[in-house]
Amino acid sequence: MALFGKKDKEEIILPDKLPDHVGFIMDGNGRWAKKRGLPRSLGHREGAKNFRTIVRHCKDIGLKTISFYAFSTENWKRSADEVGALMELFRDYLADVRNFLSENTRMVFLGDKSAFADDIREKMEKLEADSAQYDEMTILMAVNYGGRDEITHAAKILADKAAKGEIKPEDITEQSISDNLYTAGYPDVDLLIRPSGEQRISNFLIWQCAYAEFYYTDVLWPDFTPDELDKALAEYAKRNRRFGGV
Ligand code: IPE
Ligand code: IPE
Ligand code: MG
Repeated sequence: MALFGKKDKEEIILPDKLPDHVGFIMDGNGRWAKKRGLPRSLGHREGAKNFRTIVRHCKDIGLKTISFYAFSTENWKRSADEVGALMELFRDYLADVRNFLSENTRMVFLGDKSAFADDIREKMEKLEADSAQYDEMTILMAVNYGGRDEITHAAKILADKAAKGEIKPEDITEQSISDNLYTAGYPDVDLLIRPSGEQRISNFLIWQCAYAEFYYTDVLWPDFTPDELDKALAEYAKRNRRFGGV
């Protein structure tokens, strides 16, 4: 057993076997700001700061694959002001990402990048290419991401191959669908964490969460500390995963 936790706080014992893939739905930024009488955009800024804190902790404890829901295909419904503020945050993040990403961390974006401004899309692609050789930890960052959109995208790729005679309909398997998702090559989600009190998946990694363990907390994302993550990991270790067996 490995021992984690800060000196003055209750120590949390983390199991030797950590989940292969932890997913985070970074929710509650707006409510965090509202509670303080601040504009929602400041909540997003605080949430982005916390993303960096949590990523560092994930690296420290040795997690291998972590995914973060940053912007959904449904989030375009928000006001132009809020969407604009989120795009500015992505720009800031992409501009300074090398300063906070530790060595040997790979960055992959999940979602349809074509909806973004050219400069944002190009920076995402460059970051993916520049970090492609790193393998200690991978951050899967979901932006303009929707699980249904992802599955539809995979279905189109396979249908196109079938129409061209490259594959037969019977060649389509769960594995070939997985191989054509944005997450191709990465493990399914073992533990999905959603702060902010909502208990729903909101179109995040719906295929990959088929057997995920869900962890909900009322803490809002900007307040979700490394200790909260340790708590979630300790809780996950107690779960009995059966995958349909006995
Ligand atoms: C999550 O926080 C960030 C995004 C969806 C972009 P919210 O903005 O959804 O925060 P709440 O749910 O309104 O508190
Ligand atoms: C999910 O949060 C999307 C992200 C955190 C990026 P939402 O705030 O958009 O989800 P709903 O609307 O409460 O389901
Ligand atoms: Mg929300």
